[in-house]
Amino acid sequence: MKTPAPAPRPRPATPADLEALLALEKLCFEFNRMGRRSFRRLLERPSAHILVIDGADGTLAASAVLLSRQGTRGMRLYSLATHPDLRGRGLAKAMVAAALELVRATGHQWLSLEVHPENDAARALYERLGFHQTSVEEDYYADGSHAFRLRRYVG
Ligand SMILES: CC(C)(COP(=O)(O)OP(=O)(O)OC[C@H]1O[C@@H](n2cnc3c(N)ncnc32)[C@H](O)[C@@H]1OP(=O)(O)O)[C@@H](O)C(=O)NCCC(=O)NCCS
Repeated sequence: MKTPAPAPRPRPATPADLEALLALEKLCFEFNRMGRRSFRRLLERPSAHILVIDGADGTLAASAVLLSRQGTRGMRLYSLATHPDLRGRGLAKAMVAAALELVRATGHQWLSLEVHPENDAARALYERLGFHQTSVEEDYYADGSHAFRLRRYVG
């Protein structure tokens, strides 16, 4: 039987979410996973925003990491993940909508990200949500693949 879908309500992560963030990361990414130290640092950094959607029993259904850098008008969606059992239910869509809202609320103008050319699910998601390609970054991923850099303006 399928687990009932949690309400897609993104909230800011707190240090108490650290273990659940690591568990979700392990389930969602084979390579280039963020480790404990990275998450801990990001949870404390004012220029980083981690959004999460709660799952059942203290787990997380989805997460998103956004980074801002002084002097740029955009924010970067550094990571986006939905629990494998809860995909296809609009959680990532809700997460990107919340990310775009944060971009707007913090006075930024766009959200950018990188995506692997073979990540069909993510590419379809971003295309559907109005992102467009701005560049190709060669030799970007651990497997030597290039990345498509995408951007979506808010406003
Ligand atoms: C990519 C990912 C975040 C999508 O999460 P999700 O919660 O399943 O996505 P949603 O249910 O919100 O889907 C929203 C839209 O994305 C597209 N989409 C999502 N998964 C898709 C798939 N497997 N195939 C085709 N399109 C897909 C669809 O357009 C969908 O809208 P629709 O259902 O109205 O047609 C999820 O597959 C994931 O965590 N993958 C592993 C980590 C990863 O690759 N992160 C992205 C790195 S750039």
